[in-house]
Amino acid sequence: MDDNSDLRDMIRTIPDHPKPGILFRDISTLMLDGGAFSATIDRLADALEGDPPDLIAGIEARGFVFASALAYRLGCGVLMLRKRGKLPGSTISIEYALEYGTDMLEMHDDACGPGANLVLVDDLIATGGTALAAVELLRQRGARVNQALFVIDLPDLGGAERLREKDVAPHALIAFEGE
Ligand code: PRP
Ligand code: MG
Repeated sequence: MDDNSDLRDMIRTIPDHPKPGILFRDISTLMLDGGAFSATIDRLADALEGDPPDLIAGIEARGFVFASALAYRLGCGVLMLRKRGKLPGSTISIEYALEYGTDMLEMHDDACGPGANLVLVDDLIATGGTALAAVELLRQRGARVNQALFVIDLPDLGGAERLREKDVAPHALIAFEGE
């Protein structure tokens, strides 16, 4: 199915979460369904262009679920982009803006070498703040990051467009737009 409507139907919408007026797209219902989850991973793999990456970079927390399954499917490793203060080794970090306040992504500074070919994976892109911070952090280490995969895109919030402006091609299986 071109529009992945079978997968779209597995995503639960919770109105007024986390605040009134917001429709929260809850991917946990898709994850609970074995057929839908494996189809999601297969279609993310099909969306990749070019050579298989050296590593999949997954963003904590929901991104890890999809990043690790995709890496297994492709036979490559997983680089963890973690939230503040979780990694034990020497790290580099980047702060990014949330609607209220800031958050931080960190990676081990020896997790990838210069020139490594990485694909970024997260469950969802909204404003793109998280994904852009991830790309900037990986590029600080000299990694090549030209593609980013998401299960869900919320195009009204402009994140995918912001990624394109940074020469990263975003691909999402499902878009929730104008709803
Ligand atoms: C959510 C989602 C993406 C991010 C997208 O993560 O999983 O990572 O927000 O938003 P953005 O494009 O506006 O940056 P969040 O940090 O809320 O929670 P999680 O730890 O459960 O993944
Ligand atoms: Mg997240």
